[in-house]
Amino acid sequence: MPIEIAVGTQWGDEGKGRVVDLLSAEADLVARFNGGDNAGHTVTVGQTTFKLHLIPSGIIHPHTLCLLGNGMVINPLSFLAELEMLEKAGVDVSPRRLFVSQAALLITPVHRLLDQAQDEARGAGRLGTTGRGIGPAYVDKAARSGLRAGDILDEAAFRSKAQAHVAEVSRLMQVLYHKDPLDAQAIAGDFVEKALRMAPYITDVGAIARKNLAAGKRLLAEGAQGALLDLDHGTYPYVTSSCTTATGLFGGLGIGIQAVQRVVGITKAFQTRVGDGPFPTELEGEMALRLRGSGANPWDEYGTTTGRPRRVGWLDGVLLKYVVELSGISELGVTKLDILSGLPSLKVCTAYSLDGRSGDEFNVARLGEYRPVYEEMPGWEADVSGARRLQDLPAAARRYLNRIQEIAGAPVRLVSVGPEREQVILA
Ligand code: IMP
Repeated sequence: MPIEIAVGTQWGDEGKGRVVDLLSAEADLVARFNGGDNAGHTVTVGQTTFKLHLIPSGIIHPHTLCLLGNGMVINPLSFLAELEMLEKAGVDVSPRRLFVSQAALLITPVHRLLDQAQDEARGAGRLGTTGRGIGPAYVDKAARSGLRAGDILDEAAFRSKAQAHVAEVSRLMQVLYHKDPLDAQAIAGDFVEKALRMAPYITDVGAIARKNLAAGKRLLAEGAQGALLDLDHGTYPYVTSSCTTATGLFGGLGIGIQAVQRVVGITKAFQTRVGDGPFPTELEGEMALRLRGSGANPWDEYGTTTGRPRRVGWLDGVLLKYVVELSGISELGVTKLDILSGLPSLKVCTAYSLDGRSGDEFNVARLGEYRPVYEEMPGWEADVSGARRLQDLPAAARRYLNRIQEIAGAPVRLVSVGPEREQVILA
């Protein structure tokens, strides 16, 4: 069973990048299968912090092959910018080890404009998207009108498709959002020139994945966003447009259903959300400022992709249990435990109440209506960032982790206690 899947169990930003970095050390292939450059995966190695949006975090390990699957939506300009950033840092990003699926949808500059115009037009009902064009690109995919990475390989046809696409979005934006007409020829021309540079990377990624799995190679799948942003099972409509649970791997990479060695659910030790939508355990005031941080540190709670301050709250055990079932999570990786040091007490949501009844059963479609029921636990004073074994943690921190695994129904196998690669406890 050479497959491992690492996915977020919350609303994204769980610290997947660093966990994937750790797991990649043992993998032969690392693959992304959903989303696009709305993701922001941060990995710190020594003095260098890598912020990756599209390319799997496993690229930092020189021995891996890295795959961008057909379930993704790929902005060629972001892809090229990321290549350049990695190349400057001395990472090998040659087409010998980095592969983009020919069936992945392309995000164009006008998808971005459309995404932003749509969300603006929603007014108070806005979703708070990252503005990266994710929704409009997946709409084009479902409508079977989008540009795919494979289209880049036929330059003349790609040029005319790109021009028709920009002209169509321009018409849409004029009619629906009263925008000025766009210069389709100039926008498409510039986009095509740049996108062509992606050509050497484009191939049948599913075939590569299947062949390597058949040869017994180990695949690590890196989910983007978190299960609560899943298009079907998340807090719709406040979700992203892809499948963000572990189940998305098979369709999003082009491999058959098969046994998986483990599904690691990455869970921040508290809850955060960027963008709009229900958040039962959200905190305001002093405690929110304390959990969010000032923004002075790269690990403070500000979006990696958009820089927006994240909403913060106590860990929601009801949602965690739901996601463990939804994604088939076999173990948890708890991140940012160090941030909780110094709090006199902690709360975990273990049930919801609605209409005078409380319990841990709920309907995700009505999430905004529930009130959290908390269990309060003693906090701990000590700085835990130097802990490397569970025994190094204060008893209250161990009790907190134990309680998380009891509530979730999955064991905690990994705990991160700081941003550095080695600040990890393997349980
Ligand atoms: P979109 O994916 O840009 O369409 O945004 C839809 C929702 O998902 C918004 O609430 C975003 O803030 C959120 N979102 C998308 N990607 C991420 C991510 O990687 N981390 C956290 N939130 C995200």
